[in-house]
Formats: sequence, C-alpha cells, structure tokens
Amino acid sequence: MNTLFERLYGHEAQAVYFAPGRVNLIGEHTDYNGGFVFPCAINFGTRLTIAPNQDRCLRFRSVNMEPVVELPIDQCFAPLPDRCWVNYPLGCIAQLATLAGGLPMGYDMLFEGNVPLGAGLSSSASIEVVTAYAFSCLLGKNLSLIEIAKVAQHSEHSFAGVQCGIMDQFVAANGRQDHALFLNCDTLEFMQVPIRLDGVAIVITNSHSPHRLDSGTYNERVRACQKAVECIRKEKEIEYLAQLSPEDFARVQHTLTDAELLRRARHVVSETQRTREAVQALQQGDLNTFGLLMNASHRSLRDDYEVTGVELDTLVEAAWQTAGVLGSRMTGGGFGGCTVSLVREDAIEAFKKQVSRVYTEKTGLTAEFYIARTSDGVHIVRNAN
Ligand code: GLA
Repeated sequence: MNTLFERLYGHEAQAVYFAPGRVNLIGEHTDYNGGFVFPCAINFGTRLTIAPNQDRCLRFRSVNMEPVVELPIDQCFAPLPDRCWVNYPLGCIAQLATLAGGLPMGYDMLFEGNVPLGAGLSSSASIEVVTAYAFSCLLGKNLSLIEIAKVAQHSEHSFAGVQCGIMDQFVAANGRQDHALFLNCDTLEFMQVPIRLDGVAIVITNSHSPHRLDSGTYNERVRACQKAVECIRKEKEIEYLAQLSPEDFARVQHTLTDAELLRRARHVVSETQRTREAVQALQQGDLNTFGLLMNASHRSLRDDYEVTGVELDTLVEAAWQTAGVLGSRMTGGGFGGCTVSLVREDAIEAFKKQVSRVYTEKTGLTAEFYIARTSDGVHIVRNAN
C-alpha cells in the first residue's frame, strides 16, 4: 500500500492517464466565433488514476478539490448541484456511459491536478479530457481525439453551464510537445506548428487576482457575438463573426448600431486576422512580429472585448516596459488569470523583478511566474494489464 491511490481505496490502480492544461499564444475569444486559435499544451495537467470496484458506484477524489463524492453508477446522468467540481468528469462519464449502453461496473478515481485553479490555464478542460479519454479506453469505445474533445466540451456546456468554444478541450486532447496547435474552430482542421524560440522563453504570469471569469460573464460575451451576427445578416449572410475579413467588416459594420456590439465584433474580426498573421510570422522565425501581434491582441481584448481589468493590464503594461520582452498579452478567458509573454532568456530575471514590483505597487497582489514547457496531449501513463 504505498501509492496514494492504494492508501485511499485499499486496492491497486488499473491505469493512470494524463491530460495537459494549455496556454493560448494568440486567438482569444475567437473559438466560439468560428475563428482561429493558437494554443500549446503545457506540462501542468491532471493525472487520473483509476480502477474498477465491485460496489457499482463511482467514487471521485481529488488531491486539490473538495468534496469526495460517491454515486451509484445509474445516477451518473445528471449534474450535481452547487457547481461541484465532479460535474467536469461526470458530464464526460455520462456521455460515454450512454454510448456504451450503461456502465458495466463502478470505478474508483483519484484526480491529481497541478494546473493552478481558476488561472485561465484550463484546469477544467484537462479534467474533462482525461476522464473522457480514460472511459473511452476502459469501455472499449476508442473515440478519436477529436471526438474526445467534443465530449469534453459538451460536458462543460451541459454539466458546468459554460457555453465555451472548443479550444481548451481540443488542445488538451491533440497537443504535441514542442508545437503549438493552429486550429480552425469552424472546420476543426488543424496544423501542428513547431515552436523554435532560440533564446526566447514563453513566460506565464499568474495575477492571482480574485476576479474570475464566471460563467455568466462568459456566456454574455457569447450571446453578444450571436446578436452581432444577427445584425450583420441584414447585409451579408454569415454564420460566424470570424467569417468576415477586415474588409468585409468595414462594409457591414454600419449594421451594428449598438456601440458595444460593434466593439465586440471588431475584436473577433481583428483577432482572427492577427492569429493568421502570427502563425505565419512564427513559421518564418519572425518573433518580433509575433510579439507585436500579441501586444495588439491585448489592446483589442482590453478596449474592444473588455475582458482584461486592472490586474491583467498592469502585468501586461509592465511587461511592455521591460527590455527583452518581445510581446505580452492576457491569455484565456480574461478578468483574472494569467498573462503570456515572450521574453529573451537572458532578460527573464529582470522581467520577473520589474513586473513583480510594479504589480505589487499598483494592486497589492503578488504575481507568480512559470516558464512554460510544452507537452503532448492526453495519453495513458501506466496500464497494469
Ligand atoms: C475560455 C474558454 C475557451 C475560449 C477562451 C477565450 O478558456 O473555455 O473556449 O473561449 O476562454 O479565448
């Protein structure tokens, strides 16, 4: 009895799976608008250790989330109240159980996550994807990684109540070490783009801000974009905002008489274009252009999409003032959470010092820094059989 799983459950594990979190380099709030995103999977993630039990119940434990939950296997089809963390895995198990015509037995599960919670690095997607993948394997369904991402996204919609796009779940499933994933969220076509950053690091800065992107604010942005599409349809038949080129947008923007809707739509169109250009720049080894596009992305999220706030703006603006920083922006849904910066390796220590000082002076909070290491998407770590 030496592993944590064995100590908690009193028997051996059958298998261990891992799914990563992600950092999005550029392409923010574009996924649910049919646009492009460019995230990479990171080495923070969630490990799921699992074994069948003879009690016909599902047991959920996490090393970093409460409570412990136990459910009979025929009660896995409805979400739990009070925003319980178990809804993330449960929504995936419900779908796999439906596909398999029910669960043949119960399972004991232990989730061990090291993605900072609520930091915009997709801790929830890593839990969903690792669960969807594990149950797809255990129930012999062998879904493709794209199907796994869709199951995980559906769980977020129907069990967690967030009408999210597919970026987080897609990269947690399909990410590849040393690559960023260029994804067309309309067609789900994607390309793995090698990240060659000679002498430059991807630095993630956690604001530890108490402001969270809650499901209400997120879903409100999703609805604003749908409304903008309805207005533009009077002039041009579109399904998603990201179908508009900047030139198309200039022609139809007069249909957006509400100034707020105009700003929201302008962000989506400009961000989609920036993401295209940023991927090209990276492919050509032009990190300076990539950095400038990151900065423009942040300004657009701050001024047009209005999802930044004083903490993220302070971190990014302090980074912009620091020598050796090629670009910096908020990453993820926004409000609290993290920023992502491209920093020359020899400037990292000065960057941390400068950004920490300015941030604490202005907000009274303490920033935390991680050097991002890329990772592969979901996979099995160990199988006892
Ligand atoms: C959250 C959502 C994603 C995406 C980002 C913003 O992380 O889960 O689908 O919309 O916000 O780009």
